[in-house]
Amino acid sequence: MKKSTLLFTAELPRLKDLGEEFLLIYDDILPRKVPAFKNWAQQFPLQYPVKAGEALKSVEQFPDHIAKIIRLCENTSSRRLTVVVVGGGSVGDFGGFVASILKRGVKLVQIPSTWLAAIDSAHGGKTALNVGAAKNQIGTFHPPEKTVLVRSLLMAQPEARAFEGFGELIKIAWIVGGTLWSQLSKEYEVSSAVLWKYLASAIDAKYKVVGKDPHEKTGYRHVLNLGHTLGHALESYYKLPHGVAINYGLDFSLRWSVEKKIMTKKDYDALLRAPVMGYLLSPVRDELLQTKVSVLKDFRHLLLSDKKKTKSESIRFIFLQKPGKCVIQEVTVDEILMEVCRQKEEELNG
Ligand SMILES: NC(=O)c1ccc[n+]([C@@H]2O[C@H](COP(=O)([O-])OP(=O)(O)OC[C@H]3O[C@@H](n4cnc5c(N)ncnc54)[C@H](O)[C@@H]3O)[C@@H](O)[C@H]2O)c1
Ligand SMILES: [Zn+2]
Repeated sequence: MKKSTLLFTAELPRLKDLGEEFLLIYDDILPRKVPAFKNWAQQFPLQYPVKAGEALKSVEQFPDHIAKIIRLCENTSSRRLTVVVVGGGSVGDFGGFVASILKRGVKLVQIPSTWLAAIDSAHGGKTALNVGAAKNQIGTFHPPEKTVLVRSLLMAQPEARAFEGFGELIKIAWIVGGTLWSQLSKEYEVSSAVLWKYLASAIDAKYKVVGKDPHEKTGYRHVLNLGHTLGHALESYYKLPHGVAINYGLDFSLRWSVEKKIMTKKDYDALLRAPVMGYLLSPVRDELLQTKVSVLKDFRHLLLSDKKKTKSESIRFIFLQKPGKCVIQEVTVDEILMEVCRQKEEELNG
């Protein structure tokens, strides 16, 4: 897969650096939150504002969206048209999908406006729609020509959202290890400034993983799912922001890796001593792990609907041996639920 050109800019880019003819698809929250965006967007003759969130990715609503977009673009040329998408991961997945099918596929520029999108979802070329409640069931691989990381746009987010971005940053740092983890592990604060500082290295790390398995054929790309198996279930069950759920999912994977002796207790203790780890988890983590039968039943259902499912009830779970070394093992849903109960008990017993 061709690597997209990455541009890091202080402000929103000049149109002439993005293409010739444009359709701008953007999160309609942005003109209200980011005054500079409002002025910048006015330069685009063709615009399609959307409401961010999972409903935007609903396949049931897609025919209505695409009919309007086709009408909007009727006088554009497929060769010259570039879809410019500005928003978080939901807008990126939707806009990327539109670009991949409109006029049999047109050029795409992604300008992520959330940390999650900047670190993770705007890179790698995956687009997605949801079918009913099942997430990301339909999609394409359509890498952007360019991905533009705009400092002022990302910094416009409330500072509290830095915590959400950190889960994804720690995830990729654990997957690749090396300098990224050794430097990040020494950070003492969770802030937008720290996220911006590591953004280029985190993206580079994601490309290294994606480059080894661009179309998810060899299975290697599954390591990017570290922390996401239980994370997705917690996200749906508690309606948590994705990044927050991933923080808990990472913690769960780490503790299970030690229990399975994939990671040594010594390596685990060393990892927990890293300054940055003090900021990753909050004390409420074990309240999320519930052992009530009714809750476990719901977790079971959510785990089974996760798309990384393989045969029947087995799931490819990503364990960590140490930063830089993931281990993929097939586990059953019941094994995951038993580990939830074990971790809960371990915590109750101190
Ligand atoms: N394609 C991939 O590889 C991939 C990878 C991971 C996640 N995803 C997808 O990404 C989505 C989650 O991403 P997300 O959390 O960015 O979601 P999102 O697009 O729903 O954005 C989250 C919230 O932030 C708001 N927002 C966006 N930019 C803002 C800004 N600059 N300032 C203030 N608020 C802003 C949005 O309006 C929304 O309310 C999910 O749908 C997930 O499936 C895709
Ligand atoms: Zn994620």
